Amino acid sequence: MAVLILFLLFFISILFLLSSLFLTGDDRRRHLPLPPGPKGWPLLGNLLQLNSKPHQTLQTLSRSHGSNGLLHLRLGTTTVIIISSSSAASKCFRNHDVNLSSRPPNSIGKHIAYNFQDLVMAPYGLRWRMLRKLFSAHLFSNKALNDFQYVRDEEVMRLVRDLAKRETTVVDIGEMVNSCVVNALARMIVGRRMIVEGEEATKFKEMATEMTRLAGQFNVGDFLPWIDWLDDIFIAGTDTTSITIEWILAELIRHPHILARAKQELDSIVGLNRLISELDLPKFSFLHDIIKENFRLHPTVPLSVPRMAIKDCEIDGYLIPKGATLFVNIWAIGRDPVSWPNDPLEFNPDRFGPGSLHENVDVKGNDFELIPFGAGRRICAGMNLGLRMVPLVTAVLVHSFDWKLLDGQMANMIDMEESYGVTMQKARPLMAKAVPRLQPEAYI
Ligand code: HEM
Repeated sequence: MAVLILFLLFFISILFLLSSLFLTGDDRRRHLPLPPGPKGWPLLGNLLQLNSKPHQTLQTLSRSHGSNGLLHLRLGTTTVIIISSSSAASKCFRNHDVNLSSRPPNSIGKHIAYNFQDLVMAPYGLRWRMLRKLFSAHLFSNKALNDFQYVRDEEVMRLVRDLAKRETTVVDIGEMVNSCVVNALARMIVGRRMIVEGEEATKFKEMATEMTRLAGQFNVGDFLPWIDWLDDIFIAGTDTTSITIEWILAELIRHPHILARAKQELDSIVGLNRLISELDLPKFSFLHDIIKENFRLHPTVPLSVPRMAIKDCEIDGYLIPKGATLFVNIWAIGRDPVSWPNDPLEFNPDRFGPGSLHENVDVKGNDFELIPFGAGRRICAGMNLGLRMVPLVTAVLVHSFDWKLLDGQMANMIDMEESYGVTMQKARPLMAKAVPRLQPEAYI
């Protein structure tokens, strides 16, 4: 009898061994747990837990319910995974990038992005690859960007002249910078300015409306259907850039000693007789530390553009199921004390200075504690342009003007409240007077 039981046990364990050998990776992963997360309501899931600033709420939920920067939520019927640490982000983009390179089929993609046909929302596949190649190999290659350097310098010069003319007036800085960025991009893409001189500077929303109105007269996409996908490029490329510059100036005006150091660097290299040009940018170092620090605290796309898992995968022993929507909380990663142990909420460009802990950290998707442009295959396609426009406009505005706030407003009273959207604006625009500080001939 004992021999029979032993034989049965042996037989069962062999069967078990064989069946586990023949289980596919997918079968094994399906038994893994989802990352932890807060309990939700029937049908709605965790939808009611998200308020008007989801990037902040998700940071709190991730700290209280997540594991190692991985959090699972159910929003209606959708499984959502939130990434809030550099270690989780590095696992996503280093180990599972292809799998996580698609976009979920949401309403933005359907109604705004030409039924998922544009570069930003297109699912991972042949069309996306083709558009991306067109974009980076031709439209925004280094050569094309170099060829249009004079266009960006010219548009920034117009901005400076426009500001200098309004010396006694308080201006909405974000709005004026936005016009400059829109015109620079428009000249690069369609060969003409979109916001004509003398016209009141227009926020992008109004510009988008204007573009639709122009459709009857001259809609580039209508006439050349193969480049209709470029319209979206305007959304991705202008708001992000001008909002970043507005945040930087707000931080600099709030921190006069940092602003003074920035001016000193620019003055010592360029002097006071001419405006800064894009060609000067590689000569500055403190300026670039300021820009990195701003990207860390005020990333313009706080929750990244959503990704979708093409098939099941495993991160840190948890299942990321096929079809799950994945958000990277870029904002929370930039403020994570694990990656940024020294006063992470302080605006301190010196954390990137020579000999500092983060001296070699860059923003190009290689260092996962600072990924304002995202990372992996779907990293921002306009990053190289953004990394020229943001430092250029910032440097020129800092070098050419002293910035005076409204009468009676102290620098430390600038409102730094965030307003959440796909792009994260200042809740209240930065208003200031630009007082010229260079030799008069520099503004001619
Ligand atoms: C400061 C400036 C900018 C910031 C912070 C920024 C940030 C981002 C982020 C976070 C993403 C999502 C990446 C991901 O899914 O991981 C993105 C995507 C994208 N951005 Fe930008 N962006 C900026 C400027 C621009 C400019 C100037 C353009 C073009 C003119 C542009 C075009 C795009 C496009 C086309 C995508 C979609 C890429 C794809 O899905 O393959 N961006 N950007």
